[in-house]
Amino acid sequence: MFKSRKQSLNKIQIFFLIFFFLEISNSCKQKSEVSTNSNGDAFIDELIGQMTLEEKIGQLNLVASSDFITGDFSATDISKKVREGKVGAILNIRSAERIRTVQQAAVEETRLGIPILFGLDIIHGYKTIFPIPLGLSCSFDLDMIEKTARIAAVESSADGLAWTYSPMVDVSRDPRWGRVAEGAGEDTYLGCLVAEAYVRGYQGDDQSANNTIMACVKHFAAYGDAEAGREYNTVDISKLTLFEYYLPPFKAAIDAGVGSLMTAFNEISGVPATSNKWLLRDLLREQWGFDGFTVSDYTSINELENHGVAADTSQAAELVIKAGVDMDMQGSAYLHYLKQLVEEGKITEDLIDQAVRRVIEAKMKLGLFDDPYKYCDEERVKIDIMNAEQLAAARESVAKSCVLLKNQNHTLPISKDVKSIAIIGPLGNSKKDMLGNWMAAGEPKKAVTLMEGMINKAGSCASVKWMEGCKVNDPDKSGFAEAVNLARQSDFVILALGEHGWMSGEAASRTDIGLPGVQNNLAEAVIKTGKPTAVVLFNGRPLTITKLDEIAPAILETWFGGTQAGNGIADVLFGDYNPSGKLTMTFPRSVGQVPIYYNHKNTGRPINPERPDFKYLSKYLDSPNDPLYPFGYGLSYTTFKYDGLSVEVEGDQINIRVKVSNTGDMDGEEVVQLYVQDNIGTITRPVKELKGFQKVMIKKGESRILTFTLTRDDLAFYHPDLTKNFEPGEFVVYVGGNSKDTVSEKIIIE
Ligand code: BGC
Repeated sequence: MFKSRKQSLNKIQIFFLIFFFLEISNSCKQKSEVSTNSNGDAFIDELIGQMTLEEKIGQLNLVASSDFITGDFSATDISKKVREGKVGAILNIRSAERIRTVQQAAVEETRLGIPILFGLDIIHGYKTIFPIPLGLSCSFDLDMIEKTARIAAVESSADGLAWTYSPMVDVSRDPRWGRVAEGAGEDTYLGCLVAEAYVRGYQGDDQSANNTIMACVKHFAAYGDAEAGREYNTVDISKLTLFEYYLPPFKAAIDAGVGSLMTAFNEISGVPATSNKWLLRDLLREQWGFDGFTVSDYTSINELENHGVAADTSQAAELVIKAGVDMDMQGSAYLHYLKQLVEEGKITEDLIDQAVRRVIEAKMKLGLFDDPYKYCDEERVKIDIMNAEQLAAARESVAKSCVLLKNQNHTLPISKDVKSIAIIGPLGNSKKDMLGNWMAAGEPKKAVTLMEGMINKAGSCASVKWMEGCKVNDPDKSGFAEAVNLARQSDFVILALGEHGWMSGEAASRTDIGLPGVQNNLAEAVIKTGKPTAVVLFNGRPLTITKLDEIAPAILETWFGGTQAGNGIADVLFGDYNPSGKLTMTFPRSVGQVPIYYNHKNTGRPINPERPDFKYLSKYLDSPNDPLYPFGYGLSYTTFKYDGLSVEVEGDQINIRVKVSNTGDMDGEEVVQLYVQDNIGTITRPVKELKGFQKVMIKKGESRILTFTLTRDDLAFYHPDLTKNFEPGEFVVYVGGNSKDTVSEKIIIE
């Protein structure tokens, strides 16, 4: 009855009749409520009523295609599986044309014609690739982040896709973990706001529109706390830390209406997240009321055997469906074992129905039953992908994501009078690396490298030459001499250093997070020439660049900027955009300081600057405690001064005012950051926590008075019994341009 497009339209017509009947009989109800609740539920009930157990299980099976490889993969004939009714969703498939063909098999060649849901990791853009999420977060510009997700949705939805595995909201304090590149850094408050921005951007106001897609918040939960930063490693985390720091971004995404959620590979308190009933049912469904659908991570159901909680895949499938995972990503565990588990009486069919209902509901919300081909719009592909407006947004996002780490004697911006520029280093002209990891359908050949961006901007009035000098990760120094020569002959030198795009992201943990290979030596040799030199860094994680920081006159962190990387960076290097990015992850001095994060606890024996020689304090013998660059840090071509801080409690509100002045000679944006420390609590509290920020433009020589308002709820925290309360007492309010350099005031809040 749902078999063909034509027949499913008839079905819809019938439901319209039901809808009008309900509308007349219940005139008090809102029109939309009747449509989605009554009509939708009836539709789903009837559909599920017609499905065989096998067809239901097919809906819970998410299968990978070979267009993108994101895990262990062996090719299967997807269309055959689809025709057999064994597939509910497909990932890693590309192009409207291919997707239309597979959709046709589902809609026209299966008994019930249920459309397939097509998904992909659209992490920082689809074809127009934006900076990696860690970079974007450094912009502290939520509207811009939302816009990048919006553009990704517009592009991917034209090309057949309806579902992205984003946002990744894993808070992480360990830069050895390569996936820090995919998140918003170490702070929970910012992480929540960024998570909401992504969900709004992808899903828009109307999930059924043909240019929005469903988001999938991941990886639930605490994946970013992998021991020793080693990918897929064990997590051992206290419930208090989990609730206070790691879970809130998931809750924020859920409150923003995210349609789906992906489980994590790791365990929590001895129970893998994918089979964690407490996490997926008690917390997610019961406490938080999440009504979207849940999906396992790639083969994470099968991996329960390696975790040692399931003897075989059948037991794994049983544990996971009971725990509350609706869809199985690429493991076929549900496909192969759920039927048998029902027959053996180990699970009920009702349990499967609940999962199927949520999957069908998602497809319905997306409008796939109305038009299964709504996302395959070859016409829209021509105008809605990489158009001028999208590329302009990408360029702007690159400039806004850059963080100026050092700028001795105004080395930057580069004077427009410079006649010859040498770009030296392995990342100076590498198209592929510009896209970073998770490049979706991004095309390296369309990426603008640093050299191309510099030529675009300055090529008509200055010579721009690039020399590799050395490879990213290779001991060969034979290119040094020529590179040094080029530096000597040039007015200005840019050292383009860093990691390959694939050295961060999934399965890309590193124990040494310094510049790979001989890049430090190259930098040393070039800087010795005495030429004005700026280092431009490309990397997906904080790096330990203590040595470089000592010798380089200027350092600009650019992450991996995506399609428009070179143009956006050139805008910053020439001062057409005054850098405003601030670090969202602490840069350690050495890997021995990791994990390192700004909102740490004080300890019982904190370091004391007045007793530098006293031994028995919480410190290292061979390194200061503080990082190379703290959270929130980033310079501008101008300077800002903070003063006149006042904090007043008025009834329910804590009102904070501060004067910020632009004391330099260029207009500039500043991310004004508000931190609070709770001095005495019934449990220990961090030395400070971000509670607000405003990104403001202040013209040179001008000042602005900024106000922030907090409530007691903003200062509440989790207690050992997992209740969240405010405790009155003494607080310190800090305001500044980073987490370290602040003005502050103590205040009693009753
Ligand atoms: C990753 C997920 C990703 C999935 C599909 C997994 O290996 O952990 O983040 O969404 O693959 O590509």
